[in-house]
Amino acid sequence: MISLFNSVNEFTEYRNSLATDSIGLVPTMGNLHDGHLSLIKKSISENQYTIVTIFVNPLQFGPNEDFDKYPRTLTADVEKIKSLKIEGKEIIVLAPSSVNEIFPKNFKTTISVKDLTNTLCGASRPDHFDGVTTIVYRLFALAKASKSYFGQKDYQQVLVIRRMVEDLLIPTEVIALPINREESGLARSSRNQFLSESGRVEALELSGTILKISRLLKEKSFQEAGIEINDILEVVLRDQRWDYLEVLDAENLEAVNINTQQVVIAGALKIEETRLIDNHLTKISYAR
Ligand code: PAJ
Repeated sequence: MISLFNSVNEFTEYRNSLATDSIGLVPTMGNLHDGHLSLIKKSISENQYTIVTIFVNPLQFGPNEDFDKYPRTLTADVEKIKSLKIEGKEIIVLAPSSVNEIFPKNFKTTISVKDLTNTLCGASRPDHFDGVTTIVYRLFALAKASKSYFGQKDYQQVLVIRRMVEDLLIPTEVIALPINREESGLARSSRNQFLSESGRVEALELSGTILKISRLLKEKSFQEAGIEINDILEVVLRDQRWDYLEVLDAENLEAVNINTQQVVIAGALKIEETRLIDNHLTKISYAR
């Protein structure tokens, strides 16, 4: 069964009537694709109730970003959810009808996670993660779900949310699921539809470059691979289309050091006005 709520009050009343802990939360901004659906399917398989939120959160968009342009396709999204195998499980879609439903006029609070938000996307999108943690905190409070599902596609987002959950003692288990990709290797994103056909081909440079670095790190120690990796990073640094490409300790997004076991290779590349992100986790060896 699937039920749709546009009113937060009505949703809350329904949520409070559920006498079970078996609730999973999947926060989204809608325009659902197979990446989102993989999270929803996992939640359906693990919980009696799955709450999917669909809300394009203005707080996480910068003044010159694509908030107005972001695709809003609620009817199609609900159809996609309906087409999943629900089999005796229940899905609750919360799609607030306006920003005021979620952030009333007198809303004054910002949740901000330090340090982890300074690098990668946080460096080029200054208030972005404050916007993410503030909405996600509020969604956690509304859903009161024992499990919450996020995609590794937004690797930094997962780390920031895990930190918030731990620091603020939020009673939910954060589950991160692998990146869902198109056959070409392009990570699925609601923003891919803005790309032209040639843009889609050009966009493969993002996953391709990240994989190239990952391969080098698998073949050689971090120090040995370092020279070739630096060459790649230098080329990228000179290329205006790249916002960043970095190899960081996957646990804390700090510089790689002798204690690093796994790195995240993360990049952001702008193709035809559309900023795409991708990443890959790789275990490293560090010659001592
Ligand atoms: P959105 O971009 O809609 O993504 C919703 C969830 O789907 C996120 O956890 C994201 O990491 C995951 N996701 C997106 N593309 C994916 C892919 N190709 N494979 C696997 N998972 C993927 O992320 C947000 O919305 C917002 O920041 C949100 C958390 C909802 C707060 O507003």
